[in-house]
Amino acid sequence: MMDFDSVFSSNARNMKKSVIRELLKLTARPEIISFAGGLPAPETFPVADLKEAADRVFEKEAKSALQYGTTEGDNGLKEEIIKFENRQGVQPKPENLLIVSASQQALDMVAKILLDPGDYVIAGRPTYVGAIQAIQSYSAHVLGIPFTPERDGFNMEILEREFAKAKARGNKIKYIYVIPDFQNPAGLCWSLEKRKALLDFAYRKDLLIVEDSPYREIRFLGDHLPSIYQLDQQGENRGIVINLKTFSKILSPGVRVGWIMAHEKFIAKCVIAKQAMDLCTNVFSQKWLAEYMRTGKLYDTIKKTCDNYREKRNKMVECLEKYMPKRWDVTWTKPEGGLFLWVSLPHYINTDELIIKAVEEEKVAYVVGSAFYYDNPEHNAMRLNFSYSDPATIEEGIKRLARIITREIETYESGHRAKTSPEGQ
Ligand SMILES: Cc1ncc(COP(=O)(O)O)c(C=O)c1O
Repeated sequence: MMDFDSVFSSNARNMKKSVIRELLKLTARPEIISFAGGLPAPETFPVADLKEAADRVFEKEAKSALQYGTTEGDNGLKEEIIKFENRQGVQPKPENLLIVSASQQALDMVAKILLDPGDYVIAGRPTYVGAIQAIQSYSAHVLGIPFTPERDGFNMEILEREFAKAKARGNKIKYIYVIPDFQNPAGLCWSLEKRKALLDFAYRKDLLIVEDSPYREIRFLGDHLPSIYQLDQQGENRGIVINLKTFSKILSPGVRVGWIMAHEKFIAKCVIAKQAMDLCTNVFSQKWLAEYMRTGKLYDTIKKTCDNYREKRNKMVECLEKYMPKRWDVTWTKPEGGLFLWVSLPHYINTDELIIKAVEEEKVAYVVGSAFYYDNPEHNAMRLNFSYSDPATIEEGIKRLARIITREIETYESGHRAKTSPEGQ
């Protein structure tokens, strides 16, 4: 029997399993109400319109849709993406675009192109686990920066301080990874001021920013803010922002198509990296998406998706207010977009341990907060997904979650009282 461990590369040995993907296997049982996955609501998929678009591709261009395509991506789809971006005030040229097999490939590609073993990436505490995985798989590290108490972006003072310390240690920092619009996991949205401050920091320190924006168009409350990519375009236009976009949350994750917007020199290097990865993105999917986008119906789908998620987010927030223990140390974010919110619990509750009881005793699941940290994880938080379940299920699930959390708090506090009372000493 081959000893595989001895033949794996050092990069492969640095790869870590996604805790979420492992957890999802556990929570797939039908009796469990799961707020763990990051799934879009299937009722938002425009099935009939997508079927018609696919039929038209078979009628009009079956042979080219079934053939290899260029690595850069289908020109028809690029045209539609440019129109889509133009409507949001972003002006990419075709050479600023690369069609990819969704954002996860882009995260891997960016890490592959930019990171040598031992390099550092600045990222939030917490941040998207798939980005951490991509960075680790090139034997690089994350320099974690906490958010402000107002949760409107990085704590810039800590960023300056940690950056200076890392430089003094001789660490090589290659880029900053951020998700300014309704971040996964906590649903945070960066303020305009913090977006500008980060861009200014990157200009001063000569760093690239990788702006991951899968949820950008899923804003169901408040006003749109310019992306950091856009702020650079409107300002000094130094081309230091690499913006990752995807159809996964605005239309369907199953199509596995996204795009990178960046300086043409960066895109040219990505094209070479992608040739070794998969030659080209699924050609049929690209032509199919272009055909669907030509109908103009994507805007309507996005609007319906936002309406759907607003209702579910409101329901989840309302149920948390109704059922959770009312204490200063039990809090949750109230996102204005995206798919997730983040619950923080008293310091003595370890959600890594609580998940077993939650699944076994109350048949409810969440993602442990610790999954979203590269190092020194916080253990008293959890991520909840509100896009997938219907409002009645959200209510039942939050009731169950609140029950188990209330029990944990009561158990701890009665034990603590016993220990500190005279009889207990
Ligand atoms: C922040 C973030 N980036 C990237 C991805 C990957 O998305 P996809 O590969 O489906 O485009 C996700 C998926 O949930 C995400 O939350």
